[in-house]
Amino acid sequence: MTNDPIYRRCGRSGVLLPKISLGFWHNFGANDPYERSREITRYAFEHGIVHFDLANNYGPPYGSAEETMGRLIDDDFRPHRDELFIATKAGYDMWPGPYGNWGSRKYLMASLDQSLRRMHLDYVDLFYSHRYDPETPLEETLQALVDVVRQGKALYVGISRWPLPALQFAYDYLLQRDVPLLIYQGRLNLLDRAPQDEGILDFCHQQGVGFISFSPLAQGLLTDRYLHGIPEGSRMTQGRFLKPDVLTPELLERLRELNRQASLRNETLAQMALSWILEQQGVTSVLVGASSTQQLAQNLSALKL
Ligand SMILES: NC(=O)c1ccc[n+]([C@@H]2O[C@H](COP(=O)([O-])OP(=O)(O)OC[C@H]3O[C@@H](n4cnc5c(N)ncnc54)[C@H](OP(=O)(O)O)[C@@H]3O)[C@@H](O)[C@H]2O)c1
Repeated sequence: MTNDPIYRRCGRSGVLLPKISLGFWHNFGANDPYERSREITRYAFEHGIVHFDLANNYGPPYGSAEETMGRLIDDDFRPHRDELFIATKAGYDMWPGPYGNWGSRKYLMASLDQSLRRMHLDYVDLFYSHRYDPETPLEETLQALVDVVRQGKALYVGISRWPLPALQFAYDYLLQRDVPLLIYQGRLNLLDRAPQDEGILDFCHQQGVGFISFSPLAQGLLTDRYLHGIPEGSRMTQGRFLKPDVLTPELLERLRELNRQASLRNETLAQMALSWILEQQGVTSVLVGASSTQQLAQNLSALKL
């Protein structure tokens, strides 16, 4: 499997993940056309992209990306459940009051139960703590992860966006309880190398923890999407998580220069951006988003480079 064109081993585990995985953060909510979400997901699956990444609050509205997954399971994927690796998370704002946010046992346990109901699943393959909570004892959050595995509601656990000392603590805590940390999810791309600078990627590599990079295309900046203006319907026009003011003249010049370099390599900027991440030591997979099958197809072609 070492030279497999599609799959890569996730750290020191029995799990192989596709080098390119598909995220449901945008384009899979109740406000998006179901048939388009379905076409993208089916295209992914038909091309070996069997790892889908969700979270309780993906939508909008919150929860609706998981509901889309539930509909997809019913319409297409139930017979293929054992061929899929489905992840979800809890950690960000989800429901009102003190129990719908951060890292308490109360929140994580209730949230996973809700996620399973929305997705029409008995278990997820991977459950993440979505973010580090500086106020909840790490033992409480981590024990909740251990217990959801013991209850059979998740097969593996991961953490996302935890700082290095907390990652080190989590690694030890989980290992001692025979629920090894499968994977760390962080943002690594050509514009943001924090997981390398902070030693997170090195730690994962040395300890045999997988690493999956979210927003590998910097939400579309590392593609040709914004090189000639802001197209109607693009993520930047939605103004939620990618705002036009990030597109400064300096950044635009940098993106154009990267695009020139990609052309010299006979690659698109998106292909170059993805293959760069996959070349970094310790990286298992890149977690792309897509608003069309054409985008996904272009991104998957990076695997041939
Ligand atoms: N753990 C966390 O805290 C966290 C945070 C963020 C994301 N995530 C995960 O990571 C996944 C991916 O994040 P992301 O959506 O920001 O990833 P991304 O791959 O960096 O950006 C995806 C967006 O880029 C544009 N795009 C993609 N391929 C393109 C192509 N070939 N040509 C032109 N434009 C292209 C599309 O934007 P348009 O919509 O404009 O077409 C697409 O929606 C999420 O779905 C989620 O699962 C996790």
